[in-house]
Amino acid sequence: MASLTVRQIDDALKQQLRLRAARHGRSVEDEVRTILREAAGDTETPPTAGSTPAPVEKPAAAKRVLLIIGGGIAAYKSLDLIRRLKERGLTVRCILTKAAEEFVTPLSAGAITGERVFTDLFDPAHEFDVGHIRLAREAELIVVAPATADLMAKMANGLAGDLATAVLLATKAQILLAPAMNPAMWANRATQRNLAQLIADGVATIGPNEGEMAESGERGFGRMAEPLEIAAGVERILKLRDAPKPLKGKRVLVTAGPTHEPIDPVRYIANRSSGKQGYAIAIAAAGAGADVVLVSGPVNLPRPQGVTVVDVESARDMLEAVERALPADVAIFAAAVADWRVANAGAQKIKKQAGKTTPDLALTENPDILSTIAHRASGRPGLVIGFAAETENVLANAKAKLAKKGCDWILANDVSPETGIMGGDRNTIQLVTASGVEAWPPQSKEDVAATLIAHIAAALNGEQN
Ligand code: C5P
Repeated sequence: MASLTVRQIDDALKQQLRLRAARHGRSVEDEVRTILREAAGDTETPPTAGSTPAPVEKPAAAKRVLLIIGGGIAAYKSLDLIRRLKERGLTVRCILTKAAEEFVTPLSAGAITGERVFTDLFDPAHEFDVGHIRLAREAELIVVAPATADLMAKMANGLAGDLATAVLLATKAQILLAPAMNPAMWANRATQRNLAQLIADGVATIGPNEGEMAESGERGFGRMAEPLEIAAGVERILKLRDAPKPLKGKRVLVTAGPTHEPIDPVRYIANRSSGKQGYAIAIAAAGAGADVVLVSGPVNLPRPQGVTVVDVESARDMLEAVERALPADVAIFAAAVADWRVANAGAQKIKKQAGKTTPDLALTENPDILSTIAHRASGRPGLVIGFAAETENVLANAKAKLAKKGCDWILANDVSPETGIMGGDRNTIQLVTASGVEAWPPQSKEDVAATLIAHIAAALNGEQN
């Protein structure tokens, strides 16, 4: 059979195929081929004589994690971490620093990993058969747990005087640090400077958590993240790394969070937006391979890795930052921008005045960022997406908003207080486009983000076909 043409596929099925293809990072044609191949493989028909047997899929090789155990009291938890990683089907190799050997022995780490444990940069036997360069190259992910202040300082400065730091300097693999130290050492400006440098260098971190310190009975930030948390972080990183990249080469702009509109230098008007949905979208877009700029109002969320964050306060700052971040292929406006600002904001703190109960504050309208960008005559992103957070007549208002703001898609959601969506972790979306309405099931904000990114990838893919 040279080719196969299937006619009369309805639009809904085509859309489903596009979404599936985007999720798997394949062209629609390749996705159909895969489905057909799977369906053919599922039939019970025995192979006829002379037919070519279907290729047997080899089981995937276990992923190799290199665990560097630093010298801290939390090192005892690293032995449990090895077990947790192995439970997830990972192969674990271990390096112990000299200081780590004061807390755990190579024998115990070796017994749990089932592999040789490495300790010495200049061990002639190890350098001969598994040298530090090979250790660095063969790891798909390097976890440093506990990451002591000393190890972090050495890494931030590119020192390579022992096996652990030499491997860390030589590797191209993602590194995940689980810091653990005394709270004062963690809070020290030098440690925080090193941490900022390491994050800027692309190193991922988990923890430290707040709690009681084993050695001193003190409380504070410095406890190593629990082995289960670290193992979950490892799984997340490996999954993200292996995920298809349907937005590779695309630039995605996201706005998130509330805006703060000054009343005077110390007071402002704000709203209850947490920024969680916009941040989840930025993270999902980066995970799909996009180059992401996140223009963020004031929020209390960790900075997403692999995303350029531009911090702003007011709606006018946000518009300026968005315009500066263009051009973009896709722009997603998830920020809860204040509709009004104080026209006569005080240059100084407004004082109570005798005989006057309230100050005369006049409000004026803020620029509508979404509408401004969607109506640009030139440099308009190919796909402009807005949100419609409504407390009543959700669909009707969303449809009106689509037309008025000139955007391509609106994600409508009911934010009436009883839904708990504003500031909460879940969201129920209806996607409104020129061609109709698609209701998504209630899901976490992360899943909303993943669904949206799959739709965007499908739309961009569809355009190109
Ligand atoms: O008009 P409303 O605030 O309901 O519109 C919501 C959508 O418009 C969201 O996507 C929001 O980010 C965007 N918006 C904006 N600038 C404003 C007001 C809303 O970008 N000043």
